[in-house]
Amino acid sequence: MISNILGAIGNTPMITIPNSNQPDEGQIFFKYERNNPGGSIKDRPAIYIIEEAEKRGLLKPGGTIIESSSGNFGISLAMIGAAKGYHVIILVDPKTTSANLTLLKSFGAEVIVVTEQDDCGSYHKTRISLANKMAEEIDNAFRPDQCFCLLNGEAHYHSTACEILRDCSDKISAFIAPVSTGGQLGGISMYLKAHKPDVQVIGVDAEGSVIFGGDAHSYRIPGIGLGWTPNNLVMDYIDCAYKVTDEQAFQTARAFAKNEGILMGPSSGACALVALKVAQTLPAQDKIVCMVSDGGERYISTLFNDEWMMEQGFSTDTGVADIRKIARGLQPWSTCPADYSNYVPDLNQSLAVPETTKRVNSEILRQRKRALEVSGL
Ligand SMILES: Cc1ncc(COP(=O)(O)O)c(C=O)c1O
Repeated sequence: MISNILGAIGNTPMITIPNSNQPDEGQIFFKYERNNPGGSIKDRPAIYIIEEAEKRGLLKPGGTIIESSSGNFGISLAMIGAAKGYHVIILVDPKTTSANLTLLKSFGAEVIVVTEQDDCGSYHKTRISLANKMAEEIDNAFRPDQCFCLLNGEAHYHSTACEILRDCSDKISAFIAPVSTGGQLGGISMYLKAHKPDVQVIGVDAEGSVIFGGDAHSYRIPGIGLGWTPNNLVMDYIDCAYKVTDEQAFQTARAFAKNEGILMGPSSGACALVALKVAQTLPAQDKIVCMVSDGGERYISTLFNDEWMMEQGFSTDTGVADIRKIARGLQPWSTCPADYSNYVPDLNQSLAVPETTKRVNSEILRQRKRALEVSGL
């Protein structure tokens, strides 16, 4: 028995994919985050940050949570706000799907659509600036600040990463995760490098995003990508990065629905494709853990809509044999991501990152430094 819906967050299953994985190659395990009550991995940082804010006195009863999110993090916060009695304001943009808008409103969140694009042709910076301004102006407001607050990565360090090693500790050879705010890849890679340093940590970004450097252009994979390297990501803990195209990500997600009965979104399609590639290079006793950050229902009108796929010029009937062939041809974008980081410290100033975020971050960095000194590393 759990006391309320929030007790159902975490402890998600690991799923094998016997119809797609060959017996003589590395064995893939999907960490299936759709099983969180809000439907995605974002429930984890959302509840962690909110409960830390309560403990630290940054969020008080009757308070307002303000966040910039076009998708899963906003939905998780809206669910938590409903369960705990907070007012929630989510800043979205015109790319936010009608399914996500409906979910946000169903949980009682107030939704503001930001229409001004930033200098990267996206809405990240304009949404974040406005959220920061509003948090200054509204009484008893709290900004979780998923893009800049290091509590995001800490959430995964203390939950997702521990579950992965608990369930799959022997013979885990590679770990694959998508990147946007860097919360999941950053937090889990930090844990793995401390407890299982031989695990190969692989980040997956969208072709067109510049988290691992390269040229910026627009892309359609929701959930991944950013116009800079997020501070939740420590590049020294990442061994390799791949960039996946829109069509590859969408085709792979569709193939897994048909071939394994597993629903996943496009960011997970991108990771699953990389997992198939890595499996082809490893022996059968090696395990590969691949994050599946959400399910497929949120993408019914795009990913699982044949007309929409055809309008984008994407193939609609790519089977798993073709996907395995595409995987074989994939090449890493970088085998030394630390050499291509794209941190932009000036953003703290230009986006007016909240003082609460800066204070919490300084404390976390001090704790990490102390922990390293104690461990003698
Ligand atoms: C479906 C999905 N995949 C991947 C990511 C990227 O995760 P992170 O922000 O922890 O880097 C997100 C983030 O919102 C997401 O919603």
